[in-house]
Amino acid sequence: MRRLASASLRSPWREVHTPPASAGASTSISILGVQYPRDACTNVPPSILAKIPRGLHRVPNHPLNIIKRRIEAYFQRLNSKYALSDSLPPVVTTTANFDDLLIPTSHPSRAPTDTYYVNATHVLRTHTSAHQRDVLRLRPQPVGHLVTADVYRRDEVDVSHYPVFHQMEGIRTFERAKLEEEVEVDRIPERPAGVDITDEAAEPGGTNSVQNAHGKEEAMMVAQHMKRTMEGMVVELFGAGSKAGENGEPLKMRWIEGYFPFTGPSWELEVLYMGKWLELCGCGVIQQAILDETGNNDRVGWAFGFGLERLAMKMFDIPDIRLFWSEDPRFLSQFKSGDLGTLRFQPYSKYPACYKDVSFWIPVEGYHDNDMYELVRDVAGDLVEDVALIDAFVHPKTKRVSKCYRINYRSMDRTFTNDEIDEIQEGVRQAIVERLGGDLR
Ligand code: DAH
Repeated sequence: MRRLASASLRSPWREVHTPPASAGASTSISILGVQYPRDACTNVPPSILAKIPRGLHRVPNHPLNIIKRRIEAYFQRLNSKYALSDSLPPVVTTTANFDDLLIPTSHPSRAPTDTYYVNATHVLRTHTSAHQRDVLRLRPQPVGHLVTADVYRRDEVDVSHYPVFHQMEGIRTFERAKLEEEVEVDRIPERPAGVDITDEAAEPGGTNSVQNAHGKEEAMMVAQHMKRTMEGMVVELFGAGSKAGENGEPLKMRWIEGYFPFTGPSWELEVLYMGKWLELCGCGVIQQAILDETGNNDRVGWAFGFGLERLAMKMFDIPDIRLFWSEDPRFLSQFKSGDLGTLRFQPYSKYPACYKDVSFWIPVEGYHDNDMYELVRDVAGDLVEDVALIDAFVHPKTKRVSKCYRINYRSMDRTFTNDEIDEIQEGVRQAIVERLGGDLR
């Protein structure tokens, strides 16, 4: 959500550093049993490939699975005809991930520094919206869809960012000619008592206007249906007036203006949780061009997308995103009851952190901080809690740029020996030279 919302102007198609192909390196990349030819764009490292088969959102009692099922049940109560899917394959075409969603060719999310390219034409989906076209082409077209999936983004490394996470996409469409009747079909609950909702951007206009293809009344009716549906979803997850609101305060939500290429008008929904506004999802009225292209000229609709990890971390007090990937039975066994109201994660690991710094001259061209974050992830795996850029300077004479990163090693389940960390750190240093073309200082 972050990246599509903010249009930071970074040059996309820069050269990216991929590990030099070693002798005998395979010319294809195998993902879930399908072979894709490698090419100059391929930048999916083995550490990411290893995560693909895990399907955490389908693992019984996994916190992501608990939330997914809870939301699916809520939507099916509203309307039993929502179609559910949670196992669409992660490799999609660049067309499905970007072009079909009207994402401009210059958008930074397309950059190989941000996206995992399987090859020039295929990527690991960066969001569940990549499946909008597929599901909207289904015939007969169901009233709506919930698509849950693992999504992939090259990103910074810290306790709340991980290059693989999970999203749920919701879509609801209506027959345009019968819109007024169809919005009444879903049994959307009344706003329950004990909920405080502000909508600062209720009135579309300015930078958030109704599409030319839509009448204002029509667009507002779709938006209202979407907002009521999603407010109900938040109440389902957080409970009205309960733990989310502090000191007996009601549960608080707010709608703010959003921006997404594939919706208009667009909004973001936030919930006040432990005194902080937490962004839950992006959403809006689906661009009519997308519905037209998928043979739904006679329909209008809304869509939302939200990240499950962030929600699960808040709801269950899970302090570190790496925990979702833990295969330690002490993690999963805690969530057996599936009771959202009472479940709180009990930390079982308090092992000491170990910091190691590394400084190097970056190559003159084509270097991105994400290359370093990924390299560390790849070499040291989940033993790394975070990597921070702590210093950068330009040599006054040579103009070379030096960067210093601090790597924080901490295991979830044991204490390391110094020798062990030194060995891993040495591996990182070597990889900086060999893969990134860095010059160690
Ligand atoms: N795909 C967006 C993201 O990952 C989230 C999103 C926003 C999905 C608005 C939607 C939508 O379907 O309507 O940032």
